[in-house]
Amino acid sequence: MSDDLGKPPPGAAADWTVPQRWESYTPEDHATWDRLFDRQAQLLPGRVTPLFLQGLDLLRLSKPGIPDFEELSERLMKATGWQVVAVPGLVPDSVFFDHLANRRFVAGNFIRRPDQLDYLQEPDIFHDVFGHVPLLANPVFADYMQAYGRGGQRAAAAGAIDRLARLYWYTVEFGLIRAGSGLQLYGAGIVSSFSESRFALEDPSPNRIGFDLKRVMRTRYRIDDFQQTYFVIDSFEDLLDQTLNNDFGPIYAQLSEAADIGTEEVLATDHVYHRGTQDYARAKLAT
Ligand code: PHE
Ligand code: FE
Repeated sequence: MSDDLGKPPPGAAADWTVPQRWESYTPEDHATWDRLFDRQAQLLPGRVTPLFLQGLDLLRLSKPGIPDFEELSERLMKATGWQVVAVPGLVPDSVFFDHLANRRFVAGNFIRRPDQLDYLQEPDIFHDVFGHVPLLANPVFADYMQAYGRGGQRAAAAGAIDRLARLYWYTVEFGLIRAGSGLQLYGAGIVSSFSESRFALEDPSPNRIGFDLKRVMRTRYRIDDFQQTYFVIDSFEDLLDQTLNNDFGPIYAQLSEAADIGTEEVLATDHVYHRGTQDYARAKLAT
């Protein structure tokens, strides 16, 4: 399973991890973390699922400056048995899945420059740690992430990583969750972004559609801008229910001939919470 992790870059271990080297962050690096943290701490209450805020509290991520992975892992280990390990940037799928399957979350150890507060292509430590780690303190979400790692290993064998990646994208990174009569955020790509935290929830442009596993696996996504469609889960328990004991093998086989669904498309079979105007995406295209 984990027999081929590829060749790690110089200085990295066989599992691609590197020391975080917390002592080498500059005062400017810590100040960048604090600024990003303060902005999201202002914005998120009410918008994000309370389960995220509970994780933030429990892990004491609000302590000034960039978190030290050793301390963070100690707290996380007590809560759900997860750890955070540093890697030099994006890692191969097999490495990523192997860490998740063993309850290790891989995080980049660098932080964006002060002139990149709002836009960044590669995930940095603020996205990886602030965005992803709080929910790893939630037992149900923690199980989902481990199951995803194991599922990745199976998907790789089935040649279906692209299908599974869409599930990750539309849940772990850009998921919305029902909350009473409204919606809340939980995806890490949204909650770590000042602008998308509002866009995903409040802008009339994107579609907001009920989560459906096969539908999601067929849907393309954007890596260059805000999503045109967000998918809404009922609860983490429901997400786990639809995925954990559901053998994806037959689903991959069934979907092998299925056409992709476009990033902006709404189907007659969709449970539509909000049909997007797509004004934002259209305006972007026109420029
Ligand atoms: N049940 C999936 C499979 O058969 C694994 C999985 C579980 C994937 C939970 C994602 C989330 O491969
Ligand atoms: Fe991410």
